[in-house]
Parts: sequence; C-alpha cells; structure tokens
Amino acid sequence: MVMMLMKATAIANSNIALVKYWGKRNSDLILPYNSSVSMTLNNLNTKTTVEFNKTLSEYEVTINRKVAKGEELARVANHLELLQNSSPHKIFAKVRSESNFPKKAGLASSASGFAALTLAGTKALGQDLTVKNLSILARRGSGSASRSILGGFVEWTKGSLPDGLDSHALQIKKEAHWPELSMIVTIISTEEKKVSSRAGMSQTVKNSPFYSAWLDTIESDVEKMKQAISEKDFIQLGKIAELNAIKMHATMQTTTPPFIYWEAGSLSIMKEVLKLREEGIECYFTMDAGPQVKILCQQKDIETIKSRVTEINLVKDIIICHPGKEARLTEDHLF
Ligand code: PMV
Repeated sequence: MVMMLMKATAIANSNIALVKYWGKRNSDLILPYNSSVSMTLNNLNTKTTVEFNKTLSEYEVTINRKVAKGEELARVANHLELLQNSSPHKIFAKVRSESNFPKKAGLASSASGFAALTLAGTKALGQDLTVKNLSILARRGSGSASRSILGGFVEWTKGSLPDGLDSHALQIKKEAHWPELSMIVTIISTEEKKVSSRAGMSQTVKNSPFYSAWLDTIESDVEKMKQAISEKDFIQLGKIAELNAIKMHATMQTTTPPFIYWEAGSLSIMKEVLKLREEGIECYFTMDAGPQVKILCQQKDIETIKSRVTEINLVKDIIICHPGKEARLTEDHLF
C-alpha cells in the first residue's frame, strides 16, 4: 500500500499594522476589540514545512534551527491540533520554520509564522481552504497572522459574532496598487522582548485608564486609513499611522505596572523622523510590541532617510520593505 505523503510547505510575509490591533474581547478565540489595517511586507518572511506522520509519538518543532520547547512548542502543537479539529484521529507532525528576521522582537514574526503554519498545515492535511477560512484559523494562532494570509493592504474586521466567524482579513488593495510605498525597518535590538504582546494587551485592557480612549478613535482611524490607501494619499496615511502607534503605546505606558517597549535608539529615530519632516522630507514612524522603529516614506526619499538613520549609532540594521504578496505554497520543502 502506498502511504500518502502528508507534507506541505508555505511562505508567508510578515505585516506591519498601520492601524493597530490592541486588546482582545475573547482571548480563547482571539477576537479583537477593534478592527485593524496593515501592509504586508515583501522582504520579511517565514517559510514553514509541516509533515504529519503516523509514526511520530510527539510534535517535533524546530524554529530558526532551534528545537522549540515549553510555551513556544505548546503554541505550535495547539495550533496543529486545531487544524485537525474535524478529524477523529489526531496525528503528530514534524515542523521546521525559518524566518529571515529576528523573532519576538516586534517585527511580527508570529504573524508570518502562524500564517505559514496554517497554510502548510491545512494543505498537508489535504484541506483546500478559502482565504477567509485560512485567515480565521491563522487568527487563532496569533491575531496579526490573520492579516498575513493576504498581500498588499489588508483590513482585519473585528466582527461581532461570538464564534468569530466574521473576524478575518479582507484585502483593501493588492500590492501592485502602491508598490512605491516604502517602509524602512530599523533594527535597534534583536533581544527577545520581556513582555509578549499577548500579556501586554491583556494587562492594558484590564487597567489602563487610556484604553477606552484608544477605542473611542480607532474605528475612525480605520476608515481614514482605508481612504488614504485607496487614494494613495501618503501624508494622510503617515499621519494616521504615526498617531495611532503613539496612542497604542500610551495605553501600555499607563497600565499598572507600566511597560515601555521603546529603547534609547527607538526614541532617537522617532526624533530624527520629526526632524526630517521639519526639513521637508515626508516620513512618519510606527512601532509595535518591540523597540524597532519602522519608517514610512516614499521611494524617492529612501536613500536620504537611510543615510540619516545610519548615522545614529544605536541602529544595528536596516531592512527596506515594500508591499508584499499573500501567503503561498511552495514545493521547496525545508526537509
Ligand atoms: O498578533 P499579536 O499577538 O502578535 O499582536 C500584534 C500586536 C501589534 O503588533 C502591536 C499590533 C498589530 O496590529 O500587529
């Protein structure tokens, strides 16, 4: 008898939110309090091979050439169990995943990671899911992963159903709509962060006095951002993205105990961005749950901004990104 090979490999790009997701209304299903908007990035990606194998007696997971253990292993294993929900007999799997950028440092490694794991895992199980269903499943691994299933500019609609079936990504525009929109990702530190976005969000929702203020303006930010993307209005996009990121960080800094993802280098870059703007160079910053600063700019200004940022000696590396494509399958397996 020929054994069917239950193996597949997927590549997913990371995404950076232009209007952030921050706070869950349901932590089990990962349902957000607010909708969010992101740009999928062409140069930050994760490739993942999944092979289900009846001869295995446990999950074997390697991430960036290191064997996953503890909570990291549990998150991947739980996700693979979820993908097999409809089948009566659960099978263990071997997983190998590699990203071309540091994980857990605020570069959305869980976004590309869980998007690639969802696509590879479901394909290995012989399932051919719609983009909507892939996004719903990816969301269960990590909220931001729901957006990495799609390319270009993406909205994750918060939805209102208790089962979360209306909380998934929708494409606003394809990557070809605005290929010259640029994001300069500056790496300040590659150390893994101390407060995960999961823990940080939950604490913020619980006790930041600013959390309700965050929710008060968020849906208007989403609408204005979608319009800026459709009209390719760079200044409007930059202004909304920057203020939205500052508002999100203000909620974290006002929890008890407070947490601050900014490092000295992050602040230096934020100030440099403001200075560049005063000099007439249009650029804006955004930051996530980590110290890296991402600068939004237009293609024509990349070199000027890059050279100014390089002069700040706290910057370890710079990655230039443009809108990238959706999660996809490949035959080029990692094992
Ligand atoms: O999906 P998570 O748990 O990685 O949370 C992402 C949170 C932010 O990156 C800060 C915002 C966002 O929308 O991506």
